[in-house]
Amino acid sequence: MARKAEAKGVGAKAKGTVLCKIDAVPQEGVLQCGAGERKVCVARAGDQFFAFQPDCPHKHSPLCEGAMEGHVLTCLDHMWQWDIRTGEPQGLAEQPIRTYKLRRDGDTLLLVD
Ligand code: FES
Repeated sequence: MARKAEAKGVGAKAKGTVLCKIDAVPQEGVLQCGAGERKVCVARAGDQFFAFQPDCPHKHSPLCEGAMEGHVLTCLDHMWQWDIRTGEPQGLAEQPIRTYKLRRDGDTLLLVD
């Protein structure tokens, strides 16, 4: 079962489900994480982190095995692409991907959706 945590925001407390340590997410890469029974992909672009659905909306290939360049994720099976900040399709992609809100608590990333 996923561990629940409280993260201190500015002037408020926010809860979330612990996903992973920041250092576990490769620079310009993607890591699959579990939050309870839910699986999500976490990508890193510089010092920013983004979470999104684990399967490609085209033919369900694992998006955690995709390639990152800046804020663009590419599914390597058929080259669909998305802006991971919004999930909006780019290039050949015909459907968006679902994105999730993350919160940073020290060296840990929390899923807050
Ligand atoms: S399965 Fe991802 S682009 Fe086709």
